[in-house]
Amino acid sequence: MKTYALVFQGTAYTSKSPKEVEVLENYLFCVNDDGMIEMVIAPGDPAYRATQNTHEVRRLAEGQYLLPGFIDLHVHAPQWAQAGLALDVPLYEWLHTHTFPLESKFSDLEFAADVYDDLVGTLLANGTTTALYFATVHKEASLLLAEICANKGQRGLVGKVVMDDPEQNPEYYRDADTKTALAETEQFIREVKQLAESVKQGVYPVVTPRFIPSCTDEALQGLGELAARYDVHIQSHCSESDWAHEYVQKRFGKHDAAALHDFGLLGQKSVMAHCNFLDDEDADLFARTGTAIGHCPLSNAYFANGVLPLARWMDKGVEIGLGTDISAGYTPSLFDNARQAVISSRMLEDGVDTALPADRRGVPESRITIDEAFYLATAGGGESLSLPIGRLAEGYAWDVQIIDLTAGGMKLPVFGGGDSKRELFQRIMYLCRPEHIREVWVQGEMVHSRSR
Ligand code: GUN
Ligand code: FE
Repeated sequence: MKTYALVFQGTAYTSKSPKEVEVLENYLFCVNDDGMIEMVIAPGDPAYRATQNTHEVRRLAEGQYLLPGFIDLHVHAPQWAQAGLALDVPLYEWLHTHTFPLESKFSDLEFAADVYDDLVGTLLANGTTTALYFATVHKEASLLLAEICANKGQRGLVGKVVMDDPEQNPEYYRDADTKTALAETEQFIREVKQLAESVKQGVYPVVTPRFIPSCTDEALQGLGELAARYDVHIQSHCSESDWAHEYVQKRFGKHDAAALHDFGLLGQKSVMAHCNFLDDEDADLFARTGTAIGHCPLSNAYFANGVLPLARWMDKGVEIGLGTDISAGYTPSLFDNARQAVISSRMLEDGVDTALPADRRGVPESRITIDEAFYLATAGGGESLSLPIGRLAEGYAWDVQIIDLTAGGMKLPVFGGGDSKRELFQRIMYLCRPEHIREVWVQGEMVHSRSR
């Protein structure tokens, strides 16, 4: 008889496919010492009773449900300090008048520690168990963010941002020069890999050219080579706004996707934020190379003036997950972004497209369901990062949120207990607030809890 480090008994929701959420009603989840789910046992299976008899089982209370932890594919950690501010200026101006001045302050490690500590705690309290972070150009502060993730128990993938082009970036906030940018990125990769040796849930260095406009050709080429040499993740912004998209077209005579590919920056471990202006050829390139899209629906509404044709790229088999894009998106919650992903897709389907005859509206078959939005926040994020996370299934990490429908003063409106388990899932996805997230676990360790 096997023994497990942890056994949970309860009802869970997990994606079976991008379109389908599975309800595992009153299952047992057996977690090993490494924090991985080793067995998922259905009621009625002979092993169910045997496991109950030989283990101390943590039985979820009435009204409590398990969801996989959320995976945020795009967070600018320093921008947490300006969340909710300056959402009404265009991207280019926002970068230069608000964002770069703020990010430049992260040379101060004390300030960085305050902001990063608060952000990582907040994301965990919102159910985000894994986050793919942009830090700043500062190597030391970027390492500090990785250490804070490590200490707080979050699975952090962290990039020291590269912005080396003196023509495009302000003197007060950029890499000293291209050589330094590449050397510091390499050192950062080594330091985070070393830190990772003692971190159960994993912490990962990420090669991070901010976006093509901020980098020289030499830096982009060098970063592609570093990512290949060290086999690490890559992140950037791709075809986000009209301005950025047109800039790349002028500089290279091609779209971001092709340019990034030429520099060796697309691949299985690449996640590109936004991607609003991909065409079919770009999307095919993403699908072929295994490059993922970090979809940031709230940020897109504010800064990209665009809606990603999400359903179309999902049908093509492009890997897609969700990102908050703090602070171009104001909320730390992937629940909020899952809701917005559905809303935005509906606006694309039902909105007026002036290029169409007056009797036709929007783009047919654009809408996604809340089940698909949940997939993006969980399993889609895991696939995008090529990590065994985002599902409550054997071989996946025990990264979970315990949702309590009765917690937090705002009891969810489930009257008379008449909801089916499918209906409860919809209630959770649309109405859950941080008060309802009673516990958060990463890799078999509890990293957040709140009392009623
Ligand atoms: N493009 C380059 N930098 C940024 C950033 O910080 N946020 C967003 N949304 N787009 C960018
Ligand atoms: Fe961004």
